[in-house]
Amino acid sequence: MPKPISQKKTYSIDNLPKEKFDLLDEYIGGISDKEGSLIHILHKAQELFTFLPMEVQLHIARKVDIPASKVFGVASFYSYFTSNPVGKHTISVCMGTACFVRGSNKIFDKLKELLEVESGETTKDKLFTLKDVRCVGACGLAPIIMVDDKVYGRVKLEDVEGIVKNYKDGE
Ligand code: FES
Repeated sequence: MPKPISQKKTYSIDNLPKEKFDLLDEYIGGISDKEGSLIHILHKAQELFTFLPMEVQLHIARKVDIPASKVFGVASFYSYFTSNPVGKHTISVCMGTACFVRGSNKIFDKLKELLEVESGETTKDKLFTLKDVRCVGACGLAPIIMVDDKVYGRVKLEDVEGIVKNYKDGE
């Protein structure tokens, strides 16, 4: 039986802003059923930190007084949560069947080459995070890529560079 993380003091929050931990603690403090609200707490933490670093997950486990393994389990189960730093924009390439048969893997490869990252990674300039995702429910428009919440349908390989450039130029 794993020990609750509240009994351990082995992590450091040196590189993360203390004000954000304070805001998170305030949020957690206002919840009566903390364990039952774990997903809401993780949402709040990701909103504050933009991702869920290990230190933050450990902090939540301590505050909620549950084993860290439970927090890790929930955070890794939902694809919405990420424990890696994310860029300003997230580019998601649909790898569902309809998109895949229409060449989304080639689009994905092109993006990896252009951005010089692998799936789940963020560019050096912190502008883009690239992800491959499962069917996003718009198969009629396959192949799909999404930049943040914006959907690009029937994307051709030759469109990819221009889409990326639009966001770069917007900086
Ligand atoms: S397979 Fe890509 S939207 Fe459904």
